Amino acid sequence: MSENSTKKMKPWVYWLLFAITFIVVFIIGMLTASIMERRTETVARVDLVRNLPEYEPRNEVWGENFPRQYESYLKTLDTSFRSPYMGSAHIDYLEEYPELVVMWAGYAFSREYNQGRGHAYAVTDVRNILRTGGIEWSPQPATCWTCKSTDVPRLMKKVGVAEFYSKKFTDFGSEVVNPIGCQDCHDPKTMNLRITRPALTEALSRRGFDIKNATHQEMRSLVCAQCHVEYYFQKPTNYLTFPWDKGFSAEEMEAYYDEMNYYDWIHPLSKAKMLKAQHPDYELYMTGIHAQRGVACADCHMPYKVEGGSKFTDHHVRSPLANIANSCQVCHRESEKQLMEDVVSRQNKVMELRRLAEKSIAAAHIEAQKAWEAGATEQEMEPILKLIRSAQWRWDWVAAANGVGFHAPVEALRILGTSIQRAEQARGMLQVVFVRHNVPIPVKLPDVSTKELAQKYIGLDMDKARKDKENFLRTVVPEWDRIAKERQGTLMKYEYKR
Ligand code: HEC
Ligand code: HEC
Ligand code: HEC
Ligand code: HEC
Repeated sequence: MSENSTKKMKPWVYWLLFAITFIVVFIIGMLTASIMERRTETVARVDLVRNLPEYEPRNEVWGENFPRQYESYLKTLDTSFRSPYMGSAHIDYLEEYPELVVMWAGYAFSREYNQGRGHAYAVTDVRNILRTGGIEWSPQPATCWTCKSTDVPRLMKKVGVAEFYSKKFTDFGSEVVNPIGCQDCHDPKTMNLRITRPALTEALSRRGFDIKNATHQEMRSLVCAQCHVEYYFQKPTNYLTFPWDKGFSAEEMEAYYDEMNYYDWIHPLSKAKMLKAQHPDYELYMTGIHAQRGVACADCHMPYKVEGGSKFTDHHVRSPLANIANSCQVCHRESEKQLMEDVVSRQNKVMELRRLAEKSIAAAHIEAQKAWEAGATEQEMEPILKLIRSAQWRWDWVAAANGVGFHAPVEALRILGTSIQRAEQARGMLQVVFVRHNVPIPVKLPDVSTKELAQKYIGLDMDKARKDKENFLRTVVPEWDRIAKERQGTLMKYEYKR
């Protein structure tokens, strides 16, 4: 009986199936059409909305043409993510690692040093930090602005590159107001990646490499290497220079600085001529397996994202640990948990050696101070101070690079090993000096186990530094903003005329 009824219903079912299939195909067709439309939409907008001038610093103006990239860029304002060592949340490194205060005595970093935040904060943070702008301290050079803002290429064009560097930080306060953004990495006509900071082009050219010959994949790292690198200010012009002439490694850059007898400051406790390393992210990364396999910074920090059917580059540049699925699992098949463990276990090992180096180097500075007090001679101290300089440079080369060594764990650990060796060698030689000058050993070291204790020990007046800064933020900065606001309209009208 059931056989009979199914036979009777058959044509009916066929028609139904046909209708369903027809509807499904129709819907898929509509979806595809809408996706295609949106794809062409993003491309077509380039010319439709705004014709971008060569030096448009305002990210929101570029954003009118490229809303997806702009919206994801704005997410760099999010400060909620914190990984075991990094992320975009506020971390006070001096609080976390108080030995750094002693290591940077006499240098502005001993006042304040924090974990970096997203690109959209760059101008705010460089204004707020206790290292800049103070009326009482010798003002920083304008060179400090170079890596903070899209206004920099515009200003360099206007006043000249060398002239830009030769000015003071405060000279450009009302000009440098738009944080890192589109203009820093893109050609406004073609949206191709391009280098806007001359220091990178110059450094590579001295190494015999013309940036015009960089491959597309290389450019996906080189745009970052405009800022995430070691650099120094040539004396007396403050011309921004990358010390790459002998090579990218810690040793090669150290040899470069030694040869020109360069130092950033003289340490007031040990009297050593010190170097300050500045986030050599690109250089450390270059020695790692990912760089060797052709993986670019953008692969991990700016992965592709799909939204509303279009694939685009996520401009929320941040810790990849907040986004392992898009950042790592494109290439790695392991679970998120496993990849997280891979990163953190490497970072833990790097941090273990880093902490040893910090304790040794801070102690070496203090012991050197005690040796001078006991009447040590220049001749006795010279080789010791050289070792301290070298130890701290090597430690900083790893510590100042972001990512706690993940970009090249093997190289990071090797360099830290040589740092500890130098610091302990210096301390061994200091014991001999103490014996020679009848100082009972071991010398008693002061308690510098918190940021406050360490700052007090090096004689830093933090109340005064904070008051100076408050004053600066209350009086100088609002005036900068007022002038900038007034200018933005007129300046851009002028730029559009060209
Ligand atoms: C293989 C993936 C990968 C590549 C390639 C890579 N990074 Fe990273 N980067 C990471 C990881 C993982 C961390 C650690 C994040 C953490 O601890 O939260 C990190 C951390 C960082 C941080 C600090 C992030 C934070 O939260 O403050 C910066 C800055 C950074 N990288 C810059 C670069 C630059 C510049 C390049 C290229 C020269 C680069 N990275 C290449 C994976 C990568
Ligand atoms: C730190 C450098 C950097 C900054 C700043 C930056 N971009 Fe990009 N952008 C990239 C990279 C890298 C790519 C990938 C390019 C490639 O592989 O061809 C990209 C790709 C693009 C593309 C091509 C389509 C896509 O999504 O891949 C557009 C459009 C774009 N960015 C717009 C913007 C806009 C708008 C801003 C400012 C809000 C901006 N970018 C800021 C580095 C940057
Ligand atoms: C014009 C200079 C400049 C360029 C170009 C640049 N950065 Fe940055 N980057 C900075 C500065 C400055 C900060 C710190 C901002 C702050 O703390 O206010 C930063 C912060 C970061 C952070 C930390 C973000 C967080 O949430 O903690 C990451 C990751 C990063 N950059 C990766 C990159 C990558 C990858 C590229 C290339 C695609 C790149 N940057 C290009 C200057 C630059
Ligand atoms: C574009 C592809 C690609 C991306 C994206 C990528 N990796 Fe890799 N990764 C590689 C390759 C290739 C190697 C080298 C392995 C080999 O050649 O056998 C590697 C090696 C590694 C290693 C072992 C090397 C070491 O340092 O000990 C770890 C761990 C690792 N990746 C983690 C990550 C994490 C975490 C991320 C995301 C933040 C990531 N990778 C993103 C391609 C990638």
